[in-house]
Amino acid sequence: MGLSKSIMFSAIQPSGKLTLGNYIGTISHWMHIQDMYNCIYSIADLHAITVNQDKKLFQQNILDTLALYLASGVNPKKSIIFVQSEVQEHCQLNWILNCHTYFGELIRMTQFKQKSKINPNNINIGLFNYPILMAADILLYQSDTVLVGHDQIQHVELARKIAKRLNFLYGQVVTVPKIYIPNKNGSKIMALLNPIKKMSKSDSNLNNIIFLLDDHKCVVKKIARSITDSDNKIFYDTVNKPGISNLLNIYSSLTGTSISVLENMFVNTTYKNFKLLVTQSILDILLKLQEKFFYFKNKKDYLRDILDIGASLAKKEAQKTIQKLYNVLGL
Ligand code: TRP
Repeated sequence: MGLSKSIMFSAIQPSGKLTLGNYIGTISHWMHIQDMYNCIYSIADLHAITVNQDKKLFQQNILDTLALYLASGVNPKKSIIFVQSEVQEHCQLNWILNCHTYFGELIRMTQFKQKSKINPNNINIGLFNYPILMAADILLYQSDTVLVGHDQIQHVELARKIAKRLNFLYGQVVTVPKIYIPNKNGSKIMALLNPIKKMSKSDSNLNNIIFLLDDHKCVVKKIARSITDSDNKIFYDTVNKPGISNLLNIYSSLTGTSISVLENMFVNTTYKNFKLLVTQSILDILLKLQEKFFYFKNKKDYLRDILDIGASLAKKEAQKTIQKLYNVLGL
């Protein structure tokens, strides 16, 4: 990696069911920042085993996630792309960070509380430890910046806290990362039938979610059914018009047009026509993305090569941080 550019880290879990929310919030921005930063994009498979996985499906999901990164314009010649579990230093650093993080800090994590509620029979320690493994992902590469959606801000704040703690105790050993949320409105896409909560891949009602691999018909149907209100005026007001505001956000993020310009454009537009335009903006993006996705998905050897190269590049950087910490800890 060149020394001149600063380091940007981002990752997502290979869940196999990425949503329009994931795309707008994070992945769609990855392509554009590749020339400004040394980007490191990870497939967080160790995070994914905090819930039980079916082995075959899991392996497929990991490769599919890579295919989706590539389809979104991530360029393996510019950025490091790797699978988290293939760089063992993540676990090594995780343990060191465990010993520098307090129980009280973790028990406050909103996502832990939510996930524990959803899955009360599997509140494993991995789920509890999840934010520390994230901190390890970030600090291992001396990342200057971390690109995340809204739901991960609390976790990155913890990573910053741990980094400062290490530097206080041992001198300058890790970079304290900045948080980068690409698009303040757009990174929070809401559920279509219940636009006061986030669009989440784990939602039990599939009509709340647009998946990146949804087909044409499915997108048409889901947007047509999305909840709006009865006042037939299109403007942005998340309190009184959460449904319309969410659709405006989606349209704005996908077309790059600001909300205020859209409000002017749509003064005389009916909800029905507005929904058709939103549907079209989604299809324009998704159909192209899917075509590329299936192209890469079939190139198994190519995908494997990218991950091998990515892991070895990542490992080289990771070892430096581990060595630094082993030195100061006396290990
Ligand atoms: N937990 C993140 C998510 O579900 C994925 C992730 C893992 C991540 N490690 C990370 C994001 C480090 C940013 C930095 O979206």
